[in-house]
Amino acid sequence: MEKEIKRIAVLTSGGDSPGMNAAVRAIVRNAFHNDLHIYGIMRGYEGMIDGNIRRLETTDVSNIIHRGGTILKTARSKRFMTPEGRAQAYENLVDNDIDALIVVGGNGTFTGALQFMKEFPQLPIVGLPGTIDNDLYGTDFTIGFDTAVNTAVEAVDRIRDTADSHNRLFFVEVMGRHSGFIALHTAIAGGAGGVMIPEEDTTIDDLVRLLKRGAKRSKLFSIVLVAEGNHMGTVYDIADKVSEKIDLYDDIKVTVIGHLQRGGSPSTLDRVLASVLGFNAVEALLSGKSGVMVGIRNNNVYYTPFEEAIAKQKPLNKDLLRMAHILAQ
Ligand code: F6P
Repeated sequence: MEKEIKRIAVLTSGGDSPGMNAAVRAIVRNAFHNDLHIYGIMRGYEGMIDGNIRRLETTDVSNIIHRGGTILKTARSKRFMTPEGRAQAYENLVDNDIDALIVVGGNGTFTGALQFMKEFPQLPIVGLPGTIDNDLYGTDFTIGFDTAVNTAVEAVDRIRDTADSHNRLFFVEVMGRHSGFIALHTAIAGGAGGVMIPEEDTTIDDLVRLLKRGAKRSKLFSIVLVAEGNHMGTVYDIADKVSEKIDLYDDIKVTVIGHLQRGGSPSTLDRVLASVLGFNAVEALLSGKSGVMVGIRNNNVYYTPFEEAIAKQKPLNKDLLRMAHILAQ
């Protein structure tokens, strides 16, 4: 018979994302609603190994829904990749009488959770997609993506002013090691003249052709969005290569938005998404679910096994991409 769940622990892991706090708040509040004890593990799997685990009260999650980052802190744990690290982590959970675990993070977080479950199957684990990259299969959106795109669009709007004033071409790099969701959405919302993403093999010549077409239509400046994981090299390499092939602008500049995208107050969409997913993570555990990521698809809560969420590539919307290319001209 399955053990009754009375004490749940929660951690945030991997790159932080705006809305993680709103998710933790929803988890804690729903746990209280169900008369459960809830524990926060500090610094992700690192804190699990170090035994950095503390009881959370509802007041601990007051006044955090609007805050970026994560009150539980986060880390990318190398020690959790070792059997010794995981065994130590499990011992600490047993010492604290933890019956179930909720992990909030991205691909690496779920990979760790899956391995942990193979070694300690008696511990139910549920995951929430917390990453700005939006690259997890099984959910239309991840917690933090909307805020990151809003931040990037605001930056692009500002760059547009100066690009226009000087007749310059700007390359703007956004995050996304393996995916182009941030770049694509920012390109559409920011009215970019081009976009380079890992999901597509855009060459320098393709880009030059596009920019030349724009110039023919009297475009005096342009902004090209570059996802960090694109196939043509760093944003600086791309700018250099393009500058060798065109002489359409007064100058070519590069802006890397970087970690600005990871911080800041979560958008309304991220707060609602995080609240829905956090609330349902507790429901999922109480209804006996384990080894799944709680996501949202077509506005419905959806459960995807960790294996699938990790292994399957989330497809980019091809129609959206085609539209972005057409609107860029
Ligand atoms: O996975 C989220 C992410 O922000 C990626 O887009 C980016 O490549 C990476 O994390 C950066 O990680 P770090 O902050 O550890 O350098």
